[in-house]
Amino acid sequence: MSTWVVAGAGGMLGRDLVAALQRRGEDVTGLARGDLDVTDEAAVRGAVQRYRPAVVVNCAAWTAVDDAEAHEEDALLVNGQGAENIAAACAASGAALVHVSTDYVFGGDGRLPYAEDDRPGPRTAYGRTKLAGEQAVLRLLPGTGYVVRTAWLYGAHGPNFVATMIRLAGERPTVDVVADQHGQPTWTVDVADQIIALAQSGAGTGIYHATSSGETTWFGLAQEVFRLLGADPARVRPTTSGSYQRPAPRPAYSVLGHGRHEPARIPPIADWQPALHRAWPVLAAAAGR
Ligand SMILES: NC(=O)c1ccc[n+]([C@@H]2O[C@H](COP(=O)([O-])OP(=O)(O)OC[C@H]3O[C@@H](n4cnc5c(N)ncnc54)[C@H](OP(=O)(O)O)[C@@H]3O)[C@@H](O)[C@H]2O)c1
Repeated sequence: MSTWVVAGAGGMLGRDLVAALQRRGEDVTGLARGDLDVTDEAAVRGAVQRYRPAVVVNCAAWTAVDDAEAHEEDALLVNGQGAENIAAACAASGAALVHVSTDYVFGGDGRLPYAEDDRPGPRTAYGRTKLAGEQAVLRLLPGTGYVVRTAWLYGAHGPNFVATMIRLAGERPTVDVVADQHGQPTWTVDVADQIIALAQSGAGTGIYHATSSGETTWFGLAQEVFRLLGADPARVRPTTSGSYQRPAPRPAYSVLGHGRHEPARIPPIADWQPALHRAWPVLAAAAGR
C-alpha cells in the first residue's frame, strides 16, 4: 500500500481516480480545488509535507479550451505554474508525480498516431499552457516524473460529449456532429487504471499516452451512443468542423500511439468501442437512464 495525494480530485478524472484507489485499498487523500489551489506554491508544498505521499497525481487543470484563448495567462497559472508548483514540492519530498496532460500539445495535422516523443506543436492557448506544465514536470523530476497524456475523455462525473449526446438523443429528432476530426474516445476509469498501473510498475519515467486504442470521429462516437441507447444511429448526421467555428481550433487528427506501453509491460487501454460498452451502465445511470 502506498500513500497517494490526488490534486484536482473534484474533477471528472480526479473523482474516478480517487474511487479507483479506494477500491484497491490504497491510502489516498483527494484534494479538490477548495482544499488545495495548485497555483498557491506554499499551500502545495504544505500539503505534500503534511500527507507525505509516495505518489502525487495532478488532475487539476484549466480545461475550458475556448476560454483559454482570451485568458491564456490565467490558464497558464493553473496548467503551467500549478504543475511546476507540484513538481517542485515532489522534488523536495522525494514523491513521484503523475501529471495528466493532453493530445492538444500536438498540432493535430498528422496522419499517423503521435508517438510519445514526437515533437509537440500546440495550436491553441490551452495546448501551450498544458505543454508548459509537461515541460516543468519533466525538467524538475527527471527520475520520478510521469506525464500521462489523454484525450476525448468521458465519465460519470462531468460534462462531456457522451453525456451531451445522451441528452440530445432525448431532445432532438436529429443531431449534426462533426465527422472530420479523428481521435480516441477514452473512459476516465480506464485512465485512472492506467495511472495506477504506471505508478506501481517501476517503468521508466517520462511521457506515456493513456487513450483508448483504435480511432473514430465525433460522428462515429455519437452514432455508437445512439446505438447503445437503442435509438436510430441515422438520426446522427455528419457535418464538418467548418460549420462549428470556435475560438480554439480543434485538431483534425488527435490519435495517440502507445509505443512505450510494451517495454513498460502495461497493456494499453482496449479499443474505444468495447471500452464504451463497458462504461455504458455507469454512463447511462449517471444520465438517469
Ligand atoms: N476532458 C477531456 O476530454 C480531457 C482531454 C485531454 C486531457 N485532459 C486532461 O485531463 C485532466 C483532468 O481533466 P478533467 O476532464 O477531469 O477536467 P475537469 O473535470 O475540468 O477537472 C479539472 C479539475 O481541476 C480543478 N482546478 C481548476 N483550477 C484549479 C486550481 N487552481 N487548483 C486546484 N484545482 C483546480 C477544477 O476545479 P473547478 O471545477 O472548481 O474549476 C476541476 O475540478 C486535465 O489535466 C486535463 O487537461 C482532459
